Amino acid sequence: MNVSFVKTPEVQQLLDKAAGINESGGNPRLKAIMRDLTESVMELIVRHDISENEFWLAMKYLADGAGEIGLIVPGTGMEHFLDLYMDAKDAEAGLSGGTPRTIEGPLYVAGAPLVEGNANLSVDPDEGTHVLHMTGSVTGPDGEAVENAIVHVWHANSKGWYSHFDPTGEQTPFNNRRRIKLGKDGCYAFHSKQPSGYSVPPGGATDQLMSALGRHGNRPAHVHFFIEAPGYRTLTTQINFGDDPFANDDFAFATRAGLLPVPSRQGDSAYIAFDFQLQRAADHGDEGFSSRSRAEVDAAPETETA
Ligand SMILES: [Fe+2]
Repeated sequence: MNVSFVKTPEVQQLLDKAAGINESGGNPRLKAIMRDLTESVMELIVRHDISENEFWLAMKYLADGAGEIGLIVPGTGMEHFLDLYMDAKDAEAGLSGGTPRTIEGPLYVAGAPLVEGNANLSVDPDEGTHVLHMTGSVTGPDGEAVENAIVHVWHANSKGWYSHFDPTGEQTPFNNRRRIKLGKDGCYAFHSKQPSGYSVPPGGATDQLMSALGRHGNRPAHVHFFIEAPGYRTLTTQINFGDDPFANDDFAFATRAGLLPVPSRQGDSAYIAFDFQLQRAADHGDEGFSSRSRAEVDAAPETETA
């Protein structure tokens, strides 16, 4: 069967009706997107001659795997694609430059303690791991120091678990999570218990998909950032450890050129010097976060001595 089957009047009328095209109510943009989405799935079914059994297997996978959607999306490359698409649109609008964006991932939690100075991110002991020291500056497109920036930083512990999402229940809330308020010089510094890379939950929906694709579900050790400052575009990015075995083989496709520093290791300490460069905000909306839904817990105390 040829995909032109989807273009037959009967199927086209079905698509129009299903997307509410001829109904006066509803959201016109959603109607157009739903119609195209449904038509694309139909064409996929014909192109690959997907059987009824296979179709319902896929529906069951999506229903059962809904809890891991935050991992399935990066694992399939879709989250990185969004970065590539935003980069391409920026380039078209003449907005290139600065530290590359890369995926946020699903594990940010709003309300981390706001601290100043050389921040300690780690509350819990996390015995046996090294101490990470990270320092650098936040500048604007002309190299100017960005004033009053807030660096949101979060990472896993040495077992690869994030506070608030740790199934062992062993981590203090906001362990390895802070918001660091910078001064006029735009310089930041923090230290923490060095994170490890991690894999998707064994046997879970993402793991099943990766196995079926002949892939692994590992991420290199990494540190996530949001950087916000008045007058500048909020940057969503992360650095991956350049000496991690998965540095260039990240299942989530977060590794990008320019975001792969190799830590300098001395004894039990790892040092990373990394400077961030922000783009100037085109308008007020540019300064904020995307409206992606994120975990939120009761806000921590506003200020804490670092
Ligand atoms: Fe992460």
